[in-house]
Amino acid sequence: MASQDSMQAVEAQDFSIDALKLVTRPIPKPRRGEILVRVRAATLNYRDIAILVEKYLPTLGLPYVPASDASGEVVEVGEEVTRFKVGDRVMPIYTQGWHDGKPTPEQRTKRTLGAPLSGVLQEYIVVPAEDAVAKPAHLDDVEAATLPIAALTAWSTLQEGDVKPGDVVVVQGTGGVSLFALQFAKLAGAQVIVLSSSDDKLRRARDLGAAVGINYRTTPDWHLAIKESTGGRGADVIVETAGASLNKSLAALAFGGFIGVVGFVAGYEATIPVRQLIGPMTRIQGIAVGSRTRFEAMNRAITAHKLRPVIDSVFKLEDAAKAFRHMKSGQHFGKIGVTL
Ligand SMILES: NC(=O)c1ccc[n+]([C@@H]2O[C@H](COP(=O)([O-])OP(=O)(O)OC[C@H]3O[C@@H](n4cnc5c(N)ncnc54)[C@H](OP(=O)(O)O)[C@@H]3O)[C@@H](O)[C@H]2O)c1
Repeated sequence: MASQDSMQAVEAQDFSIDALKLVTRPIPKPRRGEILVRVRAATLNYRDIAILVEKYLPTLGLPYVPASDASGEVVEVGEEVTRFKVGDRVMPIYTQGWHDGKPTPEQRTKRTLGAPLSGVLQEYIVVPAEDAVAKPAHLDDVEAATLPIAALTAWSTLQEGDVKPGDVVVVQGTGGVSLFALQFAKLAGAQVIVLSSSDDKLRRARDLGAAVGINYRTTPDWHLAIKESTGGRGADVIVETAGASLNKSLAALAFGGFIGVVGFVAGYEATIPVRQLIGPMTRIQGIAVGSRTRFEAMNRAITAHKLRPVIDSVFKLEDAAKAFRHMKSGQHFGKIGVTL
């Protein structure tokens, strides 16, 4: 039980879901320029599972507090903080210090919340005031906690892909990034093709506005199905969360199309036919979440359109292991939240 100076947190004491333990830690103090945030909700990303179960960051020290994405309330501000005041609702940015343009390699590898920086499955966290953004007013805490990685990654991919009305956008799977990409692509006036392992999830994706659903299990040649459903033209933008299917994505692309390489749920290796890049003037780019400026631009769009994230399920902090197991099972549609 936490006292006045201590809080509850979830620690991974080994690289295993069974090693997640509810512990007591001291409440941190904000220093100059920092804010103390009472975390109200967190959400899980595939990265959190990859780190915990697949040793995605094998040199990470134990124990560590997992998860990157949170929303909460500012409860104390350090000296010289003007960006926020006590009572403001905020979300810490994932890549601390990355405010605009490109991040530094150091920010990308050493300044990310949830590893190597301490994660958000704890009742209080301290971050620099400059490294948090204001919550869109219409969202609740769990909804807001979906934005720092999943939503911003989807947003960045479509921005880099220069999505325009009438474009065809392909999203792979029905997880956090993919469903945000579906929602943002619809806002941009694009047509969306969703790939999923489940016909039921494809039905739900159509309810969200997807024009076409293709089951990648029963239609392994989904690149041909994409070509067919676009009258032979192909997709303008593919949000590649699968990774290993990059060669199929190339085959599904329209002339001058764009692939934003986001993830690796199907594996880390892909073989690329080089001529398929050159002739059709294909663009492929790695995506790494996004800057604070982009986060704020995305929040303006979310606010203007009253967009609501797709929440699959919500667990309590003490049930964090159940939340991780649920994510690992792959049954989810959208985001998995944890309330604190
Ligand atoms: N680069 C970045 O900035 C960045 C940011 C966020 C995430 N990511 C990466 O993007 C990927 C997705 O992350 P997420 O948090 O959205 O994960 P998530 O919520 O767990 O969603 C993953 C989804 O992928 C689908 N999937 C599973 N196996 C697949 C396969 N073999 N081929 C195609 N789809 C498959 C499943 O959808 P169905 O059940 O519908 O089949 C699953 O729900 C991860 O690799 C993650 O590390 C990267």
